[in-house]
Amino acid sequence: MDKRPIGVFDSGLCGISVLNHLTELLPSEEFIYIADSAWCPYGTKPYKDIQMRSKKIVEFLLSKSVKLIVVACNTATAAAIELLRNNYEIPFVGMEPAIKPAALLTKTNTVGVLATKNTFEGSLFKETSTKYAKNVNTIIRVGEGLVEIVEENQIESSEAYDLIRKYTKPMCEANADYIVLGCTHYPFLTKVIEKVAPKLKVIDPALPVAKRAQQLLKSYDLCTDSSIKKPVQLYTTGLDKVLSDFASKHIEVEWVSNYIDF
Ligand code: DGL
Repeated sequence: MDKRPIGVFDSGLCGISVLNHLTELLPSEEFIYIADSAWCPYGTKPYKDIQMRSKKIVEFLLSKSVKLIVVACNTATAAAIELLRNNYEIPFVGMEPAIKPAALLTKTNTVGVLATKNTFEGSLFKETSTKYAKNVNTIIRVGEGLVEIVEENQIESSEAYDLIRKYTKPMCEANADYIVLGCTHYPFLTKVIEKVAPKLKVIDPALPVAKRAQQLLKSYDLCTDSSIKKPVQLYTTGLDKVLSDFASKHIEVEWVSNYIDF
């Protein structure tokens, strides 16, 4: 039994889509979440910068004695998970576009995938697509501009609708029936996707990622036996107010927010 906290991080605010599933599945665990908003977006940055930021975040989390880290960011997973696993002893859970369930579920043999440029360029996406979706027509689109829209809380803006229309159009035209959200920011645009492209069913890997973390805790015997509920510790490298406004809207459990600079 292990009372240490679990670390979670993303380039910005939206790993909160994963954090919410984690707090629901693991209500007795303590969580520390880092939003690297000062360096967001990661999707267009060189891999070496994302690796450098990921290492800094992991070291900060280790200084807080975390027992497991969830990389709640497809882009950081693509760029840095291998390096993190090679450099640090604790278990990591990463995330990647859920192309496998989409390939199994599609009835039209066509699926759309929306992710960042860096996620598509990673070997993880290439390997998974080759392994599970070799015979599936896959329409991929880089969601340029979407991360900024969500970080700036412009989710209902006309720009959000225009961009989602632009990215989903070729998927709808090719008769895709599923769209895989390969970036933790995009689930916050699900309502827009459902309005603009109602035929596309959304696949978000956040819950399976949280379940994977739960499974790893059990297999490494790292679950807590504490019954004291602690608030989620949120940290941002950006503006504290932006993080707290976002958290007030999207986190249901108790939380406290802090600013960090590294
Ligand atoms: N939310 C992240 C992801 O899942 C990163 C997006 C970005 O910073 O460009 O890919």
